[in-house]
Amino acid sequence: MGLMSGKNVVIFGVANKRSIAWGIAQALHREGARLALNYQNDRMEEPVRKLAAELPGDTFIAPCDVTVPGDIDRFFAGLGKAMGHLDGLVHSIAFAKREELGGNFVDTSWEGYQLAQQVSAWSLIGLTKGALPLMEGRDAGVVCLSYYGAEKVVQNYNVMGVAKAALESSTRYLANDVGPKGVRVNAISAGPIKTVSAMGVSDFGSLLDNMAQKAPLRRNVDQGDVGNTAVFLLSGLARGITGQTIYVDAGYSILGA
Ligand SMILES: NC(=O)c1ccc[n+]([C@@H]2O[C@H](COP(=O)([O-])OP(=O)(O)OC[C@H]3O[C@@H](n4cnc5c(N)ncnc54)[C@H](O)[C@@H]3O)[C@@H](O)[C@H]2O)c1
Repeated sequence: MGLMSGKNVVIFGVANKRSIAWGIAQALHREGARLALNYQNDRMEEPVRKLAAELPGDTFIAPCDVTVPGDIDRFFAGLGKAMGHLDGLVHSIAFAKREELGGNFVDTSWEGYQLAQQVSAWSLIGLTKGALPLMEGRDAGVVCLSYYGAEKVVQNYNVMGVAKAALESSTRYLANDVGPKGVRVNAISAGPIKTVSAMGVSDFGSLLDNMAQKAPLRRNVDQGDVGNTAVFLLSGLARGITGQTIYVDAGYSILGA
């Protein structure tokens, strides 16, 4: 019996094999969860369906772009019909224009700021609201993905650092809102991992190298490390934990100079 057997979990953010969301999907599946996945647009439907086919089970798959009005409501209406209820929600999505992920932070545009906030931070609120009627009273969990650039200046992370700060703060406000309904909300602050989104950050390779050299564990983390922590946070083992940001960063964030 797995830690998540009999539980239904929806995961937003699988795009390809490198996606952190895919590492989380594999870990949740291994622990017995039944999964639901979104794909962002028509172009991504086939890759997501192909990946999902690698995990045997009755996976619910439907489109959802968090910037498209009505998409979130349509997604959860379909999910509710197919699965009946939810025990977990994973938010593993973010976006900022490439030109905002390098250069001077002072050059951040309003459009770029708005878009980064909408996709990377507001969507946690929108998706939690959409899922709530399916999670209420079930000792359910929500997990989102953050990064150290939320709290410290990380060169080139710029507008995404501000969006992650909003995401971590939203984690706390949401936790307080939905806690009385039995729903927990936590963030995982993951160390740098080579993914398609991450490669949009200028000079991302040096973040990886720096962490592998300096982190207490002297290594980078991977999608599997994050997946296992997501399982823990969504399982009954973490039933006393909410509103927290948990670091999966080989200890990097404890360092001073
Ligand atoms: N890779 C890292 O180094 C790292 C470190 C810490 C946190 N994170 C966070 O992990 C999460 C997953 O990113 P990843 O690194 O796995 O990259 P990824 O590119 O594999 O995943 C990003 C996902 O966001 C989705 N997305 C973007 N815009 C969307 C929209 N409008 N509507 C719906 N979905 C949308 C994409 O479809 C994709 O599935 C992000 O929140 C990211 O900021 C990544």
